[in-house]
Amino acid sequence: MTASKTADSARIAQLRKELAYHNHRYYVLDSPEVSDAEYDRLMRELQELESRHPDLVTPDSPTRRVGGAPAEKFEKVRHRVAMLSLANVFDDEGLSDFDERIRRQTGLPHVAYVCEPKLDGLAITLTYEQGRFVRGATRGDGTEGEDVSANLRTLRGLPTELLPRDGVKAPGMIEVRGEVFISKKDFKRLNDKREEEGEPLFANPRNAAAGSLRQLDPRITASRPLSLFLYECVPGEGVPAFRSHTEKLGYLRSLGLPVNRAVSVPSVEGVREQYRASLEGRHALPFEVDGMVVKVDDEDLRQRLGQVSKSPRWAVAYKFPPEEESTLVEDIQVYVGRTGALTPVAHLKPVKVGGVTVSRATLHNEDELRRKDVRKGDTVFIRRAGDVIPEIVKVVEGKRPEGTQPFVFPTECPVCHAAAVKDEEGAIIRCTGATCPAQLVEKVRHFASRTAMDVDGLGEKLAAQLVETGLVKSFADVYHLTRDKLLTLERMGDKSADNLLASIERSKQTTQPRFLYALGIRHVGESTARVLAESFPDVRGLYTASLEDITRVKDVGPTMAEVIHTFFHEPLNREAIDALLAAGVTPAPPVVVKTGVFAGKTVVLTGGMSGMSREQAKEEIERRGGKVSGSVSRKTDLVVAGEDAGSKLKKAQELGVRIVDEQAFLQLLQTDARG
Ligand code: IVH
Repeated sequence: MTASKTADSARIAQLRKELAYHNHRYYVLDSPEVSDAEYDRLMRELQELESRHPDLVTPDSPTRRVGGAPAEKFEKVRHRVAMLSLANVFDDEGLSDFDERIRRQTGLPHVAYVCEPKLDGLAITLTYEQGRFVRGATRGDGTEGEDVSANLRTLRGLPTELLPRDGVKAPGMIEVRGEVFISKKDFKRLNDKREEEGEPLFANPRNAAAGSLRQLDPRITASRPLSLFLYECVPGEGVPAFRSHTEKLGYLRSLGLPVNRAVSVPSVEGVREQYRASLEGRHALPFEVDGMVVKVDDEDLRQRLGQVSKSPRWAVAYKFPPEEESTLVEDIQVYVGRTGALTPVAHLKPVKVGGVTVSRATLHNEDELRRKDVRKGDTVFIRRAGDVIPEIVKVVEGKRPEGTQPFVFPTECPVCHAAAVKDEEGAIIRCTGATCPAQLVEKVRHFASRTAMDVDGLGEKLAAQLVETGLVKSFADVYHLTRDKLLTLERMGDKSADNLLASIERSKQTTQPRFLYALGIRHVGESTARVLAESFPDVRGLYTASLEDITRVKDVGPTMAEVIHTFFHEPLNREAIDALLAAGVTPAPPVVVKTGVFAGKTVVLTGGMSGMSREQAKEEIERRGGKVSGSVSRKTDLVVAGEDAGSKLKKAQELGVRIVDEQAFLQLLQTDARG
C-alpha cells in the first residue's frame, strides 16, 4: 500500500466509525450531536475516498446505505428458531382468559407482564456475528423467510456494527428480532411525494413499509424512510441467559440497538390500565400502533408455558379497534352547503371503523375527488382516526368493476340549477344562485341554531319546509310567520305552532355577537362575531366601516376582513339586516368585562361535565369576559377537566397550565357571578 492509500484507509475507517456513531445518536438515542448538513459532509467525504479506492469498499460501509445492485430474486433463509406470531384478543374478556390460562398452568396468583406497543409494520430478524451485521430476513411463513440483508443495510437506524456500552461485550453471535415500520410523518411525506410524481399511493404505513423492504432493488428501499425497533432475541453464542424480558430489552439497548418503550406491570390489572392509557395515547405516538403486545416477563415461566402451533402461550396481541376498513362506494352525490360550496360525498356500504359505523365520507371538493378518482362501485379504504371525520384513503384498484367511469362533476347547482363555478381560492366550486334554496335552507337552519338566534324547534326539517313552501325567502320572514301560515305546513299541530312562535318571539332579544354570527357570513364563527361586536356595538356601524377599520379588529385577518367588508356593502345583505331590525330583532351590544376571574382569559374545556353542557359552560365563561379555545397551548390560562378528560388534560399537565375539575369550575363561576 502506498503511503497515501494507507492514510486514506485510516481516514475511511475513522469516517465509518463516526458515521455509525452519529446514526446511533440519531436513531437509537434520539439525540443527535451534529446537524444533517454536517452528517452529509462526512458521508460525502467517505464516498469520495471509497470511489478513489474501490477495493476498500465493504458491504457494511455506511455509503452502501444508498443501496447496491438489484437482485434477481430473494434468497430463502431458514430461521434457526421459528419466528412465531401472536394470538389476538380484542377485549377485556379475551385478556382475562389469557391471564387465567397462564395462572392455571403455572399455579401462580399473579403474573408479571411487559406491555409493548404493537407496531404496525413487518417482522424481521437480524444476525450479528462478532458485532457485525451479517444477515437480515423477513418472517416469511415463520420457518423460512427471505434474505433482505441488502435492503436492511440501507436503513439508517440499523447499526451495521453493534456499539456495546455499560460494560457489555458484543456477543460472538446474536439474532435479534423486531419490526420495520414507517413513522406517520415519513408516511405522509412519502405519499405526498408519490402523489406529486403521479405514482399510486400506499394505503397505510404498514403496506408502505412492507412494500419498501421487499424490493429487489435496494436503491428503492434506500429512498424510503424505514425505521426499526427490536423486541426479542434468540439464544446465541456469548448471549447471556436472561431472567426476564425486561432484562433482555436492557441488554439489547446496551448493544446499541433501537428498542421501543416497554412497561412492566405486576399483574393483569396493570395490563388493563396500560391498555386504556395506550388506546388514549395512540394518536400522539409518532408511529402507527394497532394494539398492545402483552408478554410474560419471567423467562423461566415462558419456557414452561411453551407454544401452541405457531404462537407462544406467553404472549398475546391485545388489538385496538381498527381505524381503517375497506368498503364499497354505493353512490357519489354532490351536496350544496350554506355557503354554496358543492361538496361530493361518497355513500358507503356501512362499516364499523374506530368504534363507529360509517356510511358516508366526504371527498371535500372536485380536485380531491379527481385526484383519488373514486367511482361508484369502487372498493375503498376508509379511515377514521380519533375524532376526525372519516376519509377515503384510496381506491383498491384491483377491485374496480369493469366499465366504471370517472365521476363527472356537475357544472350547475344540483338544487337550483344556477351555474356552479370555481371560486377565487381555487379548489371549491360554488353555486352562483343568489336565491338557491339549498343555501337558504342551510342559512335559515344556521340562523335559528342554538348558538345563533336560538329559535327552539326550527331545525333542518322545518327550515326545509319553510323554504320549500315559500313561507321563508329571507331571514326576516321568520319573524312574519303567523299561526295560520304555520298550520298550512305538513305535520304542524296547534301546539307546535304556538311553541315555535313563542321561541321566535323570544329570539328577538338577542346579543350582537349572536346576531352577527347568525347572519352566516363566510369565515365568521362565534369568536370572530364576538370581537367584531365589541368593535361595532351597532350592526349598522359595519355598513360604513372601511376595510382598514375592519382589519384593525383584533384577530381579524385580511382575508376575513375582505369578506366582512364585502358582505356589509352588498345592498341585499343590508336590506336583510334592516328588515330583521324592523321586525323587532334587538341585538344587545356585548358587555365588555374587564375584571373578574375569567376576564381576558383563555379557557379550554375537556371531558364530560354532569352539571351543565359544554355550550352552557362556554356561554358562562364568555359572559365573564373569557374566551373558550379548543386546544391547549402555552397561551391557555385554565383547563376545566371533566369526566374522562384525555389528551388535553395531559398536555395541560405537561405545560403546567392551571387545571380545575367541574366542582372547582362551578365555584369559580359563582365567585364571579354575572349576568
Ligand atoms: S413479539 C413470539 N412484540 O406482531 C413473539 N411482535 O402477530 C412474536 N409485532 O409477527 C412477536 N410489535 O410482526 C412482538 N412489540 C412486539 C411487536 C410485535 C409488532 C408484530 C410482529 C409479529 C406480529 C404478531
